[in-house]
Amino acid sequence: MSDHIEQIFQCGILTLSDKGARGERQDTSGPQLQRQLAAAGPFAIRKNAIIPDEATAISTILQEWVDDEKLQLILTTGGTGVSPRDNTPEATLAIIDREIPGISEVMRAASFAKTPNAMLSRGIAGIRRGCLIINLPGSERAARENLAVVLPGLAHAVAKINGCQADCGT
Ligand code: MTE
Repeated sequence: MSDHIEQIFQCGILTLSDKGARGERQDTSGPQLQRQLAAAGPFAIRKNAIIPDEATAISTILQEWVDDEKLQLILTTGGTGVSPRDNTPEATLAIIDREIPGISEVMRAASFAKTPNAMLSRGIAGIRRGCLIINLPGSERAARENLAVVLPGLAHAVAKINGCQADCGT
């Protein structure tokens, strides 16, 4: 039997976009991620925000969502690339306790089969307290494709991060 069958995980979706935060562009990756998570099952979206690509502001809101709001899964979208204003990986790295390289490795590997530009995403994934934080790229397509790669393992990952003792192989 699954170790997390009864649990609903508290989630947040954070969009990083200067233009989106100024209202100059409609960012569609956040709503896309929300639909995908909801369809996958045990995920309740509790927080949703669009903020500019400011490293300090990104770190601050991630900390608040984990420490005060007690979220268990946060997906960020945008700001993972190589432009001067792409700050999401650094802002995330600054506040996590442990990195999970495998999550970003499989997303990049699977994405590279679709586009060579996948190698430009510097997104990371890691744990702060009881929360799994995953950086996804910013376009709707890139966000959708990357989340699809790791989504099947996310409920198990969050359950384990929160201390689930069940055997992994069952
Ligand atoms: N991954 C997938 N699966 N599909 C994509 O279209 N786009 C790439 C990459 N990863 C893409 C992808 C592109 S064009 C860039 S620049 C990087 O993600 C970083 O995107 P970001 O700066 O919007 O986070």
